[in-house]
Amino acid sequence: MRNLKRVWTLFLSLALVLSLCIPAYAAVEDTGFSDVAADAWYAEFVVYCRDNGLMAGASGTTFSPDTPTTRAMMATILYRLAGTPAVSGTDSYTDTQPGAWYSGAVLWASQNGVVSGYGNGLFGTNDPLTREQMATMLWRYSGSPSANAGSDFADESGIASWADTAVDWARENGYMGGVGANLFQPQGQATRAQMATILTRYHQDAETPVTPEPEPEPEPEDGETLVAYFSATGNTEGIAQHIQTILDTDLYEIVPEDPYTSEDLNYSNNDCRANQEQNDPNARPAISGSVENMEDYDVVFLGYPIWWGQAPKIIHTFLESYDLDGVTIVPFCTSGSSSIGSSATNLQSLAPNANWLSGQRFSGSASQDTVASWVEGLDLPEASADTEDTQTQLRLTFEGGEAVVVLEYNATTRDFLTMLPTTLTFEDYAGSEKISYLTQDLSTADAPANYDPQVGDVTLYEPWGNLAIFYGDAGSSSGLVPMGRVISGLELLSGMDGEFEVSVAVME
Ligand SMILES: Cc1cc2nc3c(=O)[nH]c(=O)nc-3n(C[C@H](O)[C@H](O)[C@H](O)COP(=O)(O)O)c2cc1C
Repeated sequence: MRNLKRVWTLFLSLALVLSLCIPAYAAVEDTGFSDVAADAWYAEFVVYCRDNGLMAGASGTTFSPDTPTTRAMMATILYRLAGTPAVSGTDSYTDTQPGAWYSGAVLWASQNGVVSGYGNGLFGTNDPLTREQMATMLWRYSGSPSANAGSDFADESGIASWADTAVDWARENGYMGGVGANLFQPQGQATRAQMATILTRYHQDAETPVTPEPEPEPEPEDGETLVAYFSATGNTEGIAQHIQTILDTDLYEIVPEDPYTSEDLNYSNNDCRANQEQNDPNARPAISGSVENMEDYDVVFLGYPIWWGQAPKIIHTFLESYDLDGVTIVPFCTSGSSSIGSSATNLQSLAPNANWLSGQRFSGSASQDTVASWVEGLDLPEASADTEDTQTQLRLTFEGGEAVVVLEYNATTRDFLTMLPTTLTFEDYAGSEKISYLTQDLSTADAPANYDPQVGDVTLYEPWGNLAIFYGDAGSSSGLVPMGRVISGLELLSGMDGEFEVSVAVME
C-alpha cells in the first residue's frame, strides 16, 4: 500500500503542480526593480515585458508601476513591439519635440495609422493614456480587426464611437476586461502596471502559434449514439442510464470477464486486485462480450468510476478493442470526491484519431436534470459538424485583472447560473481561499459526502453559504460542493488584498 499511497500522493502533487501551471505566467523571485515587489500581482507581467523588450524601467532600478502610462509611452511600446523599424520624415504634431525619446515611435505610429492625434495638430504627448485609447491603439496596431459586440459594459454609453470596436475586440480576445461591477471605465487612466499586464496577454497571444482548424470529420450517415460504461458498484451505471433516457441511445455495459468482488475493490488493501491493476501500466482486464456494430456509432459516451484518480484499466481494454477513428467520444465519470482530472485526457492516446470532448465528473447521486443540463450543453455531431467543446465558462473581472472558470454541471452550478451576471464581494479566508457570501441558496442535491479541494477549485461551502475559490492547500471537508475550476488568472485573484468586487458573467 505504501507504493500506492506514493502513487496517489504523486498524483495529487502532480495535479497541484499542473493546476498551478495552468496560468501561463511564472512566479517571480526578484523583479530587479526596487518598486516592484516580487509578490505584487503585476510582478510577473513587469518582468515579462522587460525581458521581452516591450517596456523598459522608469530608471535603471525602478519601474513606476503606479504612474499613468502616457500616450508617448504607448506609441513607444507599440513601436518596440513592431521591432523598431527605421523611419524617416517628421510628424505633423505641434506638441512633439524633435529628437525626443519618443520621436521615432510617434512618427512611426502616425505614419502607420496606429495613432491619429486629437485632430487639432496635437498628439497629447504627455497626456495620460485612457483605457479606451489604449484599446484603440492596440487594435489599430493589430490591423483594426472586426469584433463581436458581446454584452454591454454598464458604462458602454461612455465609450467613444471610435473606440467601440476596439473595446469589443480587446475584451473578446481577453486582453482587457472591465474594472469591476461590469464597468470598463473608458476614460480611466491605465497605470504602467496595468499596461504591462495587458501587453503580456497580447504578446503571449501573438506568440502562440496558430494551429489550423482541423477539418471536421465527415458525419457518417445514420450515425447513432452509444452509451458505454463500466460500473463496479452501480454509481456510473445510474449516470449512464440517465444519458440513455435523455438521448434515447443504445446502452452497453462493459462487463469484466472476471467480475470484481468487494475484496477486489477494497482499495485500503495494498494487494487488492483493483489497486494492482491501477498500478500496472500493462494491465488490460478482459471484457466479456463486445459491441457488435461499433461502426454504426459516431458518438460514444464513455463512463467509468475514478480509481486512484484515473479510469480503471478495463476502459483501456475497451478503447483498444475498436477502431474509433472519427468517433466523437464524450467521457464521464463518477467518484467519491475527485474531479475528472487527467483521467479522460490520459485515455486519448488509446484512440488518438477519435474526437475527444472534455469529460465531466458527476457524483453517483446526480439527478437526471443535472445530467440533462450537461448533455444539452454538448455540441454533438447530430446538431453540428463543429465538435468544439462547449463547457460553460465564466469570466471573473476584478481590479487586478480577470480569471476564467470552467463550470462543472451539477445542481449547484445550475442554480448559480440563474444568478448571473452578478457582482460579488470577495475576501480572503485562511490564506488559502477567496470567499464570497451569497445572498441566495444554491441546491446541493449533487454534493459529495466529502470533498478534497485542489488549488484552482471553485466550490460552494454549504454550511456558510459562500463560494470558496482555493488558491492554497486546504483539507478535505464535508459541505463543500465542487462547482468548477479556475483555468486562468488564479494568481491575479489570489493576489487581491482585503475586500474586493468581482463581476461574474458567462463568457459568450
Ligand atoms: C479502487 C478504487 C479506487 C478509488 N479511487 C478514488 C479516487 O481516487 N477518488 C475518488 O474520489 N474516488 C475514488 N474511488 C471511489 C469511486 O470512484 C466511486 O465510488 C465511484 O462512484 C464508483 O463508481 P461505480 O459505482 O460506477 O463503480 C475509488 C474506488 C475504488 C474501488
